[in-house]
Amino acid sequence: MTAASLPPFPAGFHWGVATSAYQIEGAVHDDGRGVSIWDTFCQQPGTIRDGHTGAEGTGSYRRWERDVAQLADLGVTAYRFSIAWPRVQPDGKGPANTAGLDFYSRLTDGLLERGITPVPTLYHWDLPQPLEDEGGWLTRQTAERFADYAALAAGRLADRIGLWITLNEPFVVTAYGYALGIHAPGKALMLDALPTAHHQLLGHGLANAALRADGARQVMITNNYAPAWAASDSPADLAATQAYDILQNRIFTDPVLLGSYPDLAPFGIGPEGMPCVQDGDLAVISAPVDGIGVNYYAPTRLSALPDSPLPFQMEPIPGYPVTAFGWPVVPAGLTELLGLLGTRYGAALPPVYITENGCSQRDEPAADGAIDDQLRIDYLDGHIRAVHDAITAGIDVRGYFEWTLADNFEWSEGYHQRFGLVHVDHETQSRTPKASFAWYRDLIAAQRAAG
Ligand code: FCB
Repeated sequence: MTAASLPPFPAGFHWGVATSAYQIEGAVHDDGRGVSIWDTFCQQPGTIRDGHTGAEGTGSYRRWERDVAQLADLGVTAYRFSIAWPRVQPDGKGPANTAGLDFYSRLTDGLLERGITPVPTLYHWDLPQPLEDEGGWLTRQTAERFADYAALAAGRLADRIGLWITLNEPFVVTAYGYALGIHAPGKALMLDALPTAHHQLLGHGLANAALRADGARQVMITNNYAPAWAASDSPADLAATQAYDILQNRIFTDPVLLGSYPDLAPFGIGPEGMPCVQDGDLAVISAPVDGIGVNYYAPTRLSALPDSPLPFQMEPIPGYPVTAFGWPVVPAGLTELLGLLGTRYGAALPPVYITENGCSQRDEPAADGAIDDQLRIDYLDGHIRAVHDAITAGIDVRGYFEWTLADNFEWSEGYHQRFGLVHVDHETQSRTPKASFAWYRDLIAAQRAAG
């Protein structure tokens, strides 16, 4: 299976990789950076496997040129990274910390010099701690602060950056960060976490306007989606699956694309809607976007969980290979998902970018130093073909960003889950491209030659 055997993608299709600030930058005290909720969360005993923290990451703040050189070797046409809000506004409010913005300006210039399109995400989960101390995404003020921060970032960078992403995976922030407490800020509020969904969406909408006012040309939001499969045909399991689908796949997309929330009755919310939604909010949230970012890893299979505030539970999906995380490898799920978005939103669906897709493996160098990650190559091959199938079926997909360039800090799993095309020795920070790096490089080269 050679990369060159993949069918040609449309001309101008973006081939990239994705990273995020807290997972790679390290240097958490450099140049006036403030404290984020992930710095705080990692210090709490028992939150992260083996007590790991993102204080080192992959050393990318101090050695960003190495990342850019590796991106150039890979031949990507675009790079999705995130801007750390606490570097731009150490307290989450007030004037910009110029040294923080200088870093992203240098990175942007370094990418452009290599012909790589910079695609920044403004919020990949690293909320400034002082804002969390005032209520975080449970409060409306955080949405307003987010727009101020977006304006500062655009004011400095929009002359060179065309496409912006506001939020990454607000579902994970609400579910893992505020409902279940397994991500920062570690709140286990169950359904009382729902206002964080609305306030993030409002933050997206306000930031969309602020970015454009400061010169941004294109703005989108990235969500993580998973086809929801019912464990059986029983009415209870089907209802549970529908409830999950609303929570993961619709609550962060319907308001943006349709200007309305889905029916939240399965979560005890009546037709009057969530009390935190104010007049005019949905108009702000549904202002046009230029794309939808889709992160896809695997489908989810569900059964009913009676007498619980969250009326579903996740079931294993047998019969597929699994990643080191235990996630099933289901490439056809990505075609299914893109088809679902097409059916659900019709003409309201803007161009789609696959902003994350990839897998963790137990990659360790062999005696000769080589890292033969054939499972990752199979994963990527299958999923990229699945994207092509969706394009053939009529979905307007404009880019694919593999997660991720180099093994990094994988949230609650610390450095244990390796998602990189490049192996990182976390003791020495030395890097070794894996076999998948060469495979993806060849694929991009063949596609660029064909396009
Ligand atoms: C996504 C996150 C990203 C990374 C991958 C594996 O949910 O956006 O930061 O951790 O999962």
